[in-house]
Amino acid sequence: MGNSNNEVMEVLERYSQEINNEIEKVLSTIEPVSLKKASIHLTKAGGKMLRPALTVLVSEAVGGDKKDAIKSAAAIELIHTFSLIHDDIMDQDDMRRGMPSVHKLWGEPVAILAGDTLFSKAFELVINTKVDGTSLGNESFERINQTLATVADACVKICEGQAFDMGFEGNFDVKEDEYIDMIFKKTAALIAAATEAGAIMGGADEKIVSAMYDYGKLIGLAFQIQDDYLDVVSDEKSLGKPVGSDITEGKMTLLVVKSLAEANDKDKKRLIEILKFSDTSPENVSEAIDIFEKYGSIKYAYDVAMGNVENAKQLLEILDDSEAKQALSLIADFVVKRQN
Ligand code: IPE
Ligand code: IPE
Ligand code: MG
Ligand code: MG
Ligand code: MG
Repeated sequence: MGNSNNEVMEVLERYSQEINNEIEKVLSTIEPVSLKKASIHLTKAGGKMLRPALTVLVSEAVGGDKKDAIKSAAAIELIHTFSLIHDDIMDQDDMRRGMPSVHKLWGEPVAILAGDTLFSKAFELVINTKVDGTSLGNESFERINQTLATVADACVKICEGQAFDMGFEGNFDVKEDEYIDMIFKKTAALIAAATEAGAIMGGADEKIVSAMYDYGKLIGLAFQIQDDYLDVVSDEKSLGKPVGSDITEGKMTLLVVKSLAEANDKDKKRLIEILKFSDTSPENVSEAIDIFEKYGSIKYAYDVAMGNVENAKQLLEILDDSEAKQALSLIADFVVKRQN
């Protein structure tokens, strides 16, 4: 397991330099200095760079030129970073990527603006695709337009998903299909946009663009299920963000939804008590985990995630064989094997 995870981390790193250069350039003109610093902070904190790497890999896998996809890739990472800054305000989480969250360092008003700035800069990046001598001719305008539409659609879905996520707190009747729709919107939609944008910028035909969107959506669902799992079993040092935060905040994760659906009255009542209590102790977190275990929810969530990963890998069969295609297959496995 360790080995293939390392292989994926190496692939992600291979692209991160060029993507970070684009990000650094586009953020360099922000004023005043406080907003600039707050906007840059997380981009320097060492995220995995999964989404932008997916954009570049898909563009390569469909036969495109990496240069044409790099600004869209950087844009997707900025949208992701914007969503993290705002998410940490909403979830009241003080750590992100092993550093204090933006709102902890600069306060909520500046953190809101930093998120908004990154959001806007993302669109600027896509629009400027042609500026630095890509290989594209007139077809670029159509591709850029389509990518803008894809990114805008993902942004709306992130907001909808985050609204559902918050609305589900304290609602102990959430059904599994409602949970899946929520995580599609808050997390998988952007990963799907990342892979779709790669296919579009790489010049793929409609059928391939749509298959790549679905591949991103499926690994994105698995990615969030694994994120929910890591929140209860990992530690802050490996994750770089607080653990147990979902239980403290009373989040409806698949572990919770499944346990509430299966548990006897006594366990259900106890789990609800723990989720309602806003200052959750490590003892309460481990009691919640015991309930998840008792009803097979951890195994269940893993199986759901794995099913999505297998379906995602099937979709890659539409592509010709290439190193990039192989990396996409490894990344599909990685989303459920990752430890951070
Ligand atoms: C965290 O995403 C937010 C979720 C959608 C769960 P990542 O785990 O990709 O965060 P970074 O970019 O590596 O920090
Ligand atoms: C995904 O949900 C958040 C975004 C869409 C930004 P989480 O709230 O679980 O993400 P983490 O665990 O804080 O990274
Ligand atoms: Mg959240
Ligand atoms: Mg969060
Ligand atoms: Mg989480």
